[in-house]
Amino acid sequence: MALRDALLCCLWVVWLGHPGLALPRAPARGPSPAPAVGQFWHVTDLHLDPTYHITDDHTKVCASSKGTNASNPGPFGDVMCDSPYYLILSAFDFIKNSGQEASFMIWTGDSPPHVPVYELSTDTVIAVIANMTTTVQSLFPNLQVFPALGNHDYWPQDQLPVFTSKVYNAVANLWKPWLDEEAIQTLKKVTTNVQKGSHQSFCFFPQVYIIAHIPVGYLPFSMGTTAMREFYNEKLIGIFRKYSGVIAGQFYGHTHKDSIMVLSDEKGSLFHLLWNFPSSLLSCHSNMTFLFVSPQSKMLKQASKLWKSSKFCVCGSCCYPSEGALQKQTNNPGVRLFQYDPHDYKLLDMLQFYLNLTDANLKGESNWQLEYTLTQAYDIEDLQPKSLYGLAKEFAALDSKKFIKYYNYYFVSYDSNVICNELCKAFQICAIMNLDHNSYVDCFKHYYIKQNL
Ligand SMILES: *[C@@H]1O[C@H](CO)[C@@H](O)[C@H](O)[C@H]1NC(C)=O
Ligand SMILES: *[C@@H]1O[C@H](CO)[C@@H](O)[C@H](O)[C@H]1NC(C)=O
Ligand SMILES: *[C@@H]1O[C@H](CO)[C@@H](O)[C@H](O)[C@H]1NC(C)=O
Ligand SMILES: *[C@@H]1O[C@H](CO)[C@@H](O)[C@H](O)[C@H]1NC(C)=O
Repeated sequence: MALRDALLCCLWVVWLGHPGLALPRAPARGPSPAPAVGQFWHVTDLHLDPTYHITDDHTKVCASSKGTNASNPGPFGDVMCDSPYYLILSAFDFIKNSGQEASFMIWTGDSPPHVPVYELSTDTVIAVIANMTTTVQSLFPNLQVFPALGNHDYWPQDQLPVFTSKVYNAVANLWKPWLDEEAIQTLKKVTTNVQKGSHQSFCFFPQVYIIAHIPVGYLPFSMGTTAMREFYNEKLIGIFRKYSGVIAGQFYGHTHKDSIMVLSDEKGSLFHLLWNFPSSLLSCHSNMTFLFVSPQSKMLKQASKLWKSSKFCVCGSCCYPSEGALQKQTNNPGVRLFQYDPHDYKLLDMLQFYLNLTDANLKGESNWQLEYTLTQAYDIEDLQPKSLYGLAKEFAALDSKKFIKYYNYYFVSYDSNVICNELCKAFQICAIMNLDHNSYVDCFKHYYIKQNL
């Protein structure tokens, strides 16, 4: 067992470029015994927009609205804009004053705003990452943070190179207090890309957590679109399956939505493997104009025909959204706290906190609050693959009340009236339970096409 763990860690070290970062088995707390439950925070997609300001001309509130009118701008931001600094500070203040004891924090990338490439530069991207890093370090001087780079943490965005760069050097220096020497050197020499993002793993022998910005699997609001390039998705899924026994959890950002994924083995029969949590974001803005990607299989072609002939606008996101639709698909800002067993790092629960942005802007004060506790909201025992797989099966049932809840949480309770029709639900369900091409196509065939042809 020990040998296998060591190998696993090194494999990630080599393949993903980042050395494993080890934490003590149980948080060190002097002579007192380790607590029964360990906790860590997950923040992601801060997307600071330094240009955000309140002004009468709503097209000028923030550069990230790209010339469209902000909808209802207030001190904490606007759904058409990326995060003002004030919103980000309010989130970190909440974390700091929450009274929750956490042994570490994971931060899965994307600090710069969504603005046209020519409005940023290598220096401005570095300045934004530096701003976020300094903010976190000054508020939490003693907290271990595990950071990962996102596709926006580079200039031009999405072009993270596999060789040394000014951004990686800057980040290596900024993150020095959090990374060990080996990780810093790796970041300085070569980075850790899997094409469109970076993955990092850290080991608590005999278990690892994987953190990265871009998730594996399929995007839950469109058909047959993987978040990363499909080739790399298949490859990573193969690796995660192989090492599922030692992966205690995976944590991602990027989608700006609150969603779950459960990875089964190839036969789809076993589910003792692993689970994923793409995290929700802390940004209020989401540009979800994803193009419909050409389907690659017959099944998907059939579905695509259906899709084109269907009159409904699935989840708003695959069609070009009207402004109204766009607002519906946006979400409130959120941060989350995971609970784990400090002896074996098995995940026990997750507490999702959020800010009702409309309310915060209305009152001029931020009231971050608990949105839900995962085990209670869904009446499950823990966050183990078996429990989550059972939950996903319940979601799949016709008229599942739990799925309606899930879909509301998906947007961080931004609009409880939003409805997920049949095709929308098929995308969601298939994305939750099927992370590789074959099983995804199969799911769509069984779950949707059969009933609709
Ligand atoms: C923004 O709103 C103003 C006032 O309602 C309107 O005149 C203008 O056309 C809008 N601009 C855009 C780009 O939608
Ligand atoms: C980060 O940027 C904001 C907004 O531009 C600014 O107000 C704040 O002082 C900066 N903080 C740090 C630590 O650089
Ligand atoms: C989303 O981003 C794309 C590419 O930057 C842009 O062309 C499009 O207009 C944006 N849509 C909205 C609604 O902001
Ligand atoms: C958020 O706040 C608005 C304004 O106060 C309120 O109408 C809405 O119901 C709140 N949403 C939730 C989920 O509490």
